[in-house]
Amino acid sequence: MNSPIAVCLAGATGWAGSELARAIARTPDVRLAAAVSRTHAGRNLGDVLGEAALACPVFPAAAAALAQKCDVFVDYTKPDVAKANVLAALQHDAHVVVGTSGLSDEDYAEIDAVARRRQRGVLAVGNFALTVVLLQKFAEMAARFIPQWEIIDYAHDDKIDAPSGTARELAARLSRVRQPDVTVPIERIAGPREARGATLSGVQVHSVRLPGFVISAEVVFGMPDQTLSIRHDSGNSARPYVDGALIAIRRVSTLVGVHRGLDSVLDL
Ligand SMILES: NC(=O)c1ccc[n+]([C@@H]2O[C@H](COP(=O)([O-])OP(=O)(O)OC[C@H]3O[C@@H](n4cnc5c(N)ncnc54)[C@H](OP(=O)(O)O)[C@@H]3O)[C@@H](O)[C@H]2O)c1
Repeated sequence: MNSPIAVCLAGATGWAGSELARAIARTPDVRLAAAVSRTHAGRNLGDVLGEAALACPVFPAAAAALAQKCDVFVDYTKPDVAKANVLAALQHDAHVVVGTSGLSDEDYAEIDAVARRRQRGVLAVGNFALTVVLLQKFAEMAARFIPQWEIIDYAHDDKIDAPSGTARELAARLSRVRQPDVTVPIERIAGPREARGATLSGVQVHSVRLPGFVISAEVVFGMPDQTLSIRHDSGNSARPYVDGALIAIRRVSTLVGVHRGLDSVLDL
């Protein structure tokens, strides 16, 4: 049997990262070699999470954690540190899975150049949930037939980044199917420009940040006398992201350079 894939997990004590860490403890072909969290640095992750099967040191920063040998580095932190973490992991010849949202297309272009130079894969997934992968596929199908659409991104009031990773990824994907038509060009709007949302990859994206929401993404397609809404709603737990993240960890080493979306490694 092959030895388990050694993972360094940045953000292992966070909402999403801790759920993934607990799942790794129950997954025979993956093991945690190192974890990153400033608050719990110097402790054993198993003690922090109350998971006896997790014997893994916690480091205060990715640079220190990467001194432990790992095959795959997973980032579930914050956009302001994720890019530096990913570049550090590539310098250590690890493949990388990015769960953190908020990195820009320019960030990914820079990461792609380094990953290709080092012949390593980077799989960036704005949302690991299988139901979101299907939302993306169904929306891409609709965009082939319907020339106008906009995206609405709903999230809890304290989410720092806007639009969400899911909305950014959707906009980028749909714009590759075709650029949506806009009947009144945004620069000719009467009233505040912001009322029409942000233009991402040529797509209008509207971010709502309110208590009561978790994370939802909706693509609204419009044609004369008919509309089609395709919407995904997340629940409160980070459970839906675990299976997709494990698939990404297992398959990222088959890639070279940056790939966006879980379907890069799924046969859909
Ligand atoms: N792709 C997906 O499917 C998916 C799903 C859920 C969430 N996300 C994204 O994943 C990211 C994390 O979300 P979350 O809700 O888990 O956040 P969270 O609960 O705030 O957790 C953040 C984690 O990162 C660590 N961290 C933050 N800044 C750090 C730094 N400068 N150095 C080292 N460690 C740092 C935190 O530990 P310390 O504070 O102790 O350092 C904590 O472990 C967000 O961008 C979110 O949008 C993506």
